[in-house]
Amino acid sequence: MGSIYKRLLRHPLRLAAALAPALLSPARVKGIVEVLFASGHGGAGGNGDGPPLPRHELFSIVVASDQRRRGVAERLYRRLCAGFRDRGVTSFRILVGKQLDAANRFYHRMGARPVTEVQLHEGAVSTIYVQDLNDESRPRSASIRSAGEVN
Ligand SMILES: CC(C)(COP(=O)(O)OP(=O)(O)OC[C@H]1O[C@@H](n2cnc3c(N)ncnc32)[C@H](O)[C@@H]1OP(=O)(O)O)[C@@H](O)C(=O)NCCC(=O)NCCS
Repeated sequence: MGSIYKRLLRHPLRLAAALAPALLSPARVKGIVEVLFASGHGGAGGNGDGPPLPRHELFSIVVASDQRRRGVAERLYRRLCAGFRDRGVTSFRILVGKQLDAANRFYHRMGARPVTEVQLHEGAVSTIYVQDLNDESRPRSASIRSAGEVN
């Protein structure tokens, strides 16, 4: 994660412009800080309280609302998995708010395993998924999906 933050800080004006809308909402600032803090400390559940978790993490995928349900997230996810594999990464974790139905369906469909639940933000439960990247647990293919074996 450190290298990502360093790259962001190389363009402070662009970073400030991107963050400006979120910074106007104290609740969103609090949410961002909580997620960053948990991640920087091995993630919720990764601090000895829960099962051991992979070091690598997918923070979030967001697709513009008018572009959803066209396979955009699936393509991004496959590229991410390929990039991780190229770097020798064997698994990564994802923290997903339990109330995010589309996101939870998505990670299940991609083959990520829910391994534990945590309460990160006040009163809100999140699921931690682990995506294994060995051959047997590759994200399921679109052709399998269209053949109706998944969903
Ligand atoms: C979760 C999210 C990233 C999914 O993005 P997406 O691009 O819509 O994802 P996909 O298109 O790959 O899959 C979504 C659905 O569309 C379906 N789909 C994919 N391609 C399709 C196509 N060509 N025609 C019809 N349906 C299609 C999938 O089967 C899936 O169906 P399901 O929800 O019933 O399982 C998106 O909903 C989002 O940005 N949500 C808000 C942010 C968020 O919660 N992010 C996760 C935080 S960790």
